[in-house]
Amino acid sequence: MSTIPPVFSYDYRYDDNECETETSTKQAEVEDSIGDIYLNYVDPSSLAQGGVIDDSKHKLLRSRHEQFIHDSIKGLSSGFAALDSSQPWFSFWCLNSLDILGCEINQQLRSRVLDRLSRLQSPSGGFCGGSGQLPHLAGSYAAILAIVLVGGEAAYQAIDRMGMYAWLMSMKRADGAFTMHLDGEVDVRGVYCVMVVASLLNIMTPELVKGSAEFIARCQTCEGGIGPYPGVEAHGGYTLCGLAALDILGKTDLLRLNRLARWMSARQLAFEGGFNGRTNKLVDGCYSYWMGGAFPILQKALRRARCEGYMYDRAALQRYVLACCQDRRTGGLRDKPGKSADLYHTMYCLLGLSLSQHYVGVEPSEQVSDTASVYSVPVRMMQWGAMPASLLVLGMRSNMVKPVHPVYSVPYTPLANFVKYFYALPPLAEQLV
Ligand code: FPP
Ligand code: ZN
Repeated sequence: MSTIPPVFSYDYRYDDNECETETSTKQAEVEDSIGDIYLNYVDPSSLAQGGVIDDSKHKLLRSRHEQFIHDSIKGLSSGFAALDSSQPWFSFWCLNSLDILGCEINQQLRSRVLDRLSRLQSPSGGFCGGSGQLPHLAGSYAAILAIVLVGGEAAYQAIDRMGMYAWLMSMKRADGAFTMHLDGEVDVRGVYCVMVVASLLNIMTPELVKGSAEFIARCQTCEGGIGPYPGVEAHGGYTLCGLAALDILGKTDLLRLNRLARWMSARQLAFEGGFNGRTNKLVDGCYSYWMGGAFPILQKALRRARCEGYMYDRAALQRYVLACCQDRRTGGLRDKPGKSADLYHTMYCLLGLSLSQHYVGVEPSEQVSDTASVYSVPVRMMQWGAMPASLLVLGMRSNMVKPVHPVYSVPYTPLANFVKYFYALPPLAEQLV
């Protein structure tokens, strides 16, 4: 496996070519704060020759993060419930973080989440972000993934699958994209949310997916990454959304993959080890998933999914997450040193940590050939897995977290249970008549 050698050197810092700008000043401040942290892992006597980083001491503060999540659940239970428009997201972030960490999700918590989500389901299909609001694609995506994690037939049966299909179709536009909610914004996130929800619920139809892959391909920019909609700058979050949606559709070949690979590889920062989301922007822990999750999908698309490693430095990303993103005082994970931990960054940092510990992919020889048919979707979904001889756990052995699916961003067991249930149901066409 090729990795950047674990050497601490100021040579890896951003070079502004003596042209100081607001951006380069901020970049230097972030590098200063990260350099101070990494120096704690370097033997001072080795600094003159390039300090060697000792990675053996990194420790995932599992029980602190578990406590942070439980405290956040308590804090959110009362006052926030009526006001907040991201309720399905809170459920998803909490349950998924606990599951990735291998912490228990007790029956009481599962029931509470299911009860809350059931109340957010719209009579016209889809899930709302908060009570009394319009159903929303992002809220529906988060609600379905939270129900995947709740698990069990009672949870699955709470989903109005036919209502969801009708509502998703009503969000569809002639150009293949989807509006996030009635009269809402239209971008690649919408296509990703629809493809995740529809593939999980076994409600993919040719009508639902018509033109969507082509819409995403039009969002690839001259830099190579994917932007929110055609003509707009490439961004890490939209790149994951576009690439994952194309993987579900079996149409990653519509992208210029070499150009995409070059842009994605440039997102890992040499000094920080973490990813940024755009050219000349700052490192941020949440891109550990938005970019870190995009790599296995890219490598599958390139038929390069083998055990030799990702096209980024897995150890450097883990170092960034473990040394810079954990808030040792409060628990939880964060964007970067100096920022507060929150549930969003906790989940996305843990996802990135997982994907860089376990090399996930699909053996090229076993890859289902991409076809336009929506009926190859379940096979394509469940082909993914952690590949043998691929574990790379930085620091203590106990830092290992569960492997996750790069497209669906949840651990494999609850995902497989959900898919098994929904793909045993009669085809949608029979239920629509
Ligand atoms: C910051 O952008 C935005 C993010 C870090 C989130 C990106 C994620 C997505 C767009 C995907 C969302 C997915 C779903 C399913 C709804 P910025 O431009 O403020 O940050 P920058 O300075 O890092 O570029
Ligand atoms: Zn972030």
